[in-house]
Amino acid sequence: MNILILGANGFIGSHLSEAILAQTDWHIHAMDLTQDKLENCVNNPRFHLTLGDITEKKAWIREHVQKCDVVLPLVAVATPATYVQDPLRVFELDFEANLDIVRLCVEFNKRIVFPSTSEVYGMCPDKEFDEEKSHLVTGPISKERWIYSTSKQMMDRVIYAYGKHKGLSYSLFRPFNWYGPRLDNPFNTKPGGSRVLSQFIGNILRGENINLVDGGAQQRCMTYISDGIEALMRIIANKDNSAHNRIFNIGNPNENISVRQLAEMLIANITAHYPKYAANAQKVELVDIDAKTYYGEGYQDVSLRVPAIKHAREQLAWQPTVDIKTGLRKTLDFYLS
Ligand code: UGA
Repeated sequence: MNILILGANGFIGSHLSEAILAQTDWHIHAMDLTQDKLENCVNNPRFHLTLGDITEKKAWIREHVQKCDVVLPLVAVATPATYVQDPLRVFELDFEANLDIVRLCVEFNKRIVFPSTSEVYGMCPDKEFDEEKSHLVTGPISKERWIYSTSKQMMDRVIYAYGKHKGLSYSLFRPFNWYGPRLDNPFNTKPGGSRVLSQFIGNILRGENINLVDGGAQQRCMTYISDGIEALMRIIANKDNSAHNRIFNIGNPNENISVRQLAEMLIANITAHYPKYAANAQKVELVDIDAKTYYGEGYQDVSLRVPAIKHAREQLAWQPTVDIKTGLRKTLDFYLS
């Protein structure tokens, strides 16, 4: 197969590219602005990278959608601080720019594998979020955090409608807090500039206090990247049409931990295993901060976010295998060893 990956240099794109090159004979046609995460791919003759901006290189994209069998548009803003600080950019990139690509897939009858998000469920009160039954619950318009959730939700609805009414072949996948090497740069010192794990690792390395937003009781199911990529490989392979026109939660319901627990685990881990940073780790205190002060007026949070993974289990014969202890060690080894 020929696979088109837009945003190949991102967290998911770079891990996916490596897996495809290692496990299959498929060719990858890739676009991204930069290539710093692709050092294990760029010399492979089956990896064809063009540097550029998807909002500008329209002729290239049109040509490559035609040329490829499966299209993965992975370009998006996915850090909550940006939803609040620059919501229009989130809408323009995550929705508008990607809509052009969805429409090209309809025009040329190509299969699309599109990243939805756990955030579409918003503040849904269900104990487990079900792809077909759970309600998608967001807050008032002034809570700008939800522009990401609703942009993604709208795209899910558009893709679903193209599938039902115009014959588009699609799979939607919803990552639940995927983490691992190459997520965000922990050496970025901007508060809120990274997702929680990279933010906390950076705080600890610098011996800074960790900010627990609204006390850190909110929980997330942390899913190690290799588990996510394995699900994605099965979705792309689409054996026996198992992923055809379906939505999949891809997350690890066994590793549901609070943000406070995550901070405590990281401090303990770094103190015990990375002597160079142990002294700084021991200096760190956990400090409560209210969400308004940390993120601004437009923030609202999700307190519990657990995926039901019955569909992925049944259709893809997939389940997560990496526990949080192992996943954190692998991530810390990547950054600190
Ligand atoms: C993430 C992002 O929206 C996306 O990456 C993605 O679509 C989705 O969820 C996902 O990966 O499933 P969220 O989990 O809220 O959203 O993002 P984080 O920035 O990782 O924050 C997790 C929690 O930690 C939040 O409750 C946040 O308030 C808290 N936090 C974050 C702190 O307590 N302190 C910090 O310094 C940073």
